[in-house]
Amino acid sequence: MNKPTYYITTPIYFPNGRLHIGSAYTTIAADAMARYKKARGFDVKFLTGLDEHAKKVEDAAKEDGTDPQTFVDKIANSAKDLWKILDIEYDYFHRTTSPAHVSAVKKIFKTLYDKGDIYKGFYEGLYCKPDEAFFTEKELVNGCCPDCGRPVELIKEECYFLKMSKYQKQLEEHIEKNPDFMSPAYRKNEMVNNFLKPGLEDLCVSRSTFDWGVHVDFDPKHVVYVWADALPNYAIALGFMSDCDDDYKKYWPADLHLTAKEIFRFHTIVWPIILLALGEPLPKKVFGHGWLTVEGKKMSKSYGNVIYPEEYAAKYGSDAVRYYLMREFVFGNDGNFTNESFINRINADLANDLGNLLSRTVGMIEKYFGGTLPDDYDAEDAAGSYDRDLIKSLAEMTSNVETQMDGLMIHEALAEIWKAIRRANKYADENQPWVLVKDEAKKPQLANALYCLAEALRIISIAVAPVMPRTPVAVHSQLGVADKNLSEWESAKTFGLLPRAVTVTKGPVMFPRIEIKK
Ligand code: MSP
Repeated sequence: MNKPTYYITTPIYFPNGRLHIGSAYTTIAADAMARYKKARGFDVKFLTGLDEHAKKVEDAAKEDGTDPQTFVDKIANSAKDLWKILDIEYDYFHRTTSPAHVSAVKKIFKTLYDKGDIYKGFYEGLYCKPDEAFFTEKELVNGCCPDCGRPVELIKEECYFLKMSKYQKQLEEHIEKNPDFMSPAYRKNEMVNNFLKPGLEDLCVSRSTFDWGVHVDFDPKHVVYVWADALPNYAIALGFMSDCDDDYKKYWPADLHLTAKEIFRFHTIVWPIILLALGEPLPKKVFGHGWLTVEGKKMSKSYGNVIYPEEYAAKYGSDAVRYYLMREFVFGNDGNFTNESFINRINADLANDLGNLLSRTVGMIEKYFGGTLPDDYDAEDAAGSYDRDLIKSLAEMTSNVETQMDGLMIHEALAEIWKAIRRANKYADENQPWVLVKDEAKKPQLANALYCLAEALRIISIAVAPVMPRTPVAVHSQLGVADKNLSEWESAKTFGLLPRAVTVTKGPVMFPRIEIKK
C-alpha cells in the first residue's frame, strides 16, 4: 500500500548573514514535525533553503567585499553546516539562484503575463527594504513599516503588476470553505480584517533599480520582485514547471507551510493568488508562529541582538537546544529567549527529570543485578500495585502526544511526555528498590520494578524522538535495546515489548547540570 504523503516547508532564508536561533526556531519545528510524520508512517518531504535574490543580499555581499553569488554560496555552505549541527533532516535545500529555479520563475512570470494577470504599469509607493515589502500609506504605523517599525522609502518606478484583485473573491471562498487553511485563528482574522476586507491592491512584482534577481525574459531591465521569485520555490523544488515534475504530482499541494508571523501575509494572500492565477491547488495549511525575542525585541541581525544556536549546541548538545526552543514557548506566540530560562529548562527537565530517570535506572540495574535483569520469575506475580498506574500514564502519553503533534502544539506534546517522565520517577520512589534489595524474597518485585522503569524509558524516548533525535539512540544504547522494531513509534503503544532480561551499559551523563558561576 502507498504511504500517505506529507510535504512540509520552512521559509527559505535570506542569506544576508549568519543564520541565528530565530531562523533555527522555524526549522527545528519543521524538522520535529517531519520526523513525527515519518514515525507515523507518512512518506515525508521536507524543504528548506535560501532566498538569494533580495536587494539586502546584494547589499550584504557588497559589505562583505564580494560578489553576490560567491557570497550566497558561502552562506549556503554555512547554513547546511548549521542544519547538520542541529540534526535537521531536510529533503530539499532549495536555492533561488539555481538554474532550475530561475528557469521556472521566468516561465511562471511569462505564463501570468500571457494570461493578462501580470501587466505593465507605474509604481509609486512606500517600500521597506529590510522586509522587502511594499505598503500603502494607510498600512503604515506612525509612518513606519507595520511589520518591523523601521522607516520606509518612497519609490517611483516602472513595474509589472500582479492582478491581486481579480482573485480576491476566489481566495475568500477558499478561506471560507477551508477553515484550517490559516492557523492560528487569530492570525487568520488579522489577514481577513486588515488585508482582504479593505480590498486587495494589485501588487508590484518587478523591480528595475537593481540587477541581482531573475530577469524578466521579455523585458530584461526588470527583475522579478523577490517574493514573486521566492514563494514559488515550494512548488519548483518538486519540479513544477519542469520536465521532471513527478515529485510535484506526488507531493503537491503542500500539507504545511511553516512561517513566522510577519511573512504570513505573503504565504496566505500573495502565494495563494499566484497559485490561483496558475490554476494550481493551494497549500493545505499555513501556520504563522511568533517571534523569538530578546528583551521583548525580535531577535534579528539588524537589531544586533542575535544568538547563535551552534554555540549553545556545542556546549549543551543539539537535543538540549531543540528541546528548549520547542518546550519553552507556546508554538504560535512570541517567546522571550533568556539564558536563565535556557539553564532552568536544562537543569529541571533534562538533568533532573529525564537524565536522573535514566541514570538511576541503569545505576540500580548495575548495582543490584550486575547489569542484567533476571527473567526467571513470573512477571504477573512480581507486578506491584503501582504498575497499572504507570502503564496507564504511558498509554495516555502516547495518545496525547499524537493529538498535540497533529495539532502543531509541539510544546504541549512535550509537556505530556514530561508528565510521564515525572510519573516514572515517582514510580521509582514508590517502589523503593533500595528497600526491596534488602529482602531476598523480594528479588522478583525488585527486578520487575526496574524492568518497568527501563520499559518506561524505552517508550518515553520514542515519544521524545521527533524533537530530540539523539536521545532515543543514547537511551536505547544504555538499555541494550537491540531490536530496531522496539524503537519504532508504534511499539511505544505497547508496554512490555522489551525483553525482561534487560542488559544495561552505563554511558556518559546525558544532560549534565549546568552550574551557574556567580
Ligand atoms: N526570505 C524570506 C522568506 C521567503 S519564503 C518564500 C524571509 N527570510 S528571513 O530569513 O528573513 O526569515 C525566515 C524565517 O525566519 C521567517 O519565518 C522569519 O520570520 C523567521 N525568523 C527570523 N527571525 C526570527 C525570530 N527572531 N523569531 C522567530 N522567527 C524568526 O523572510
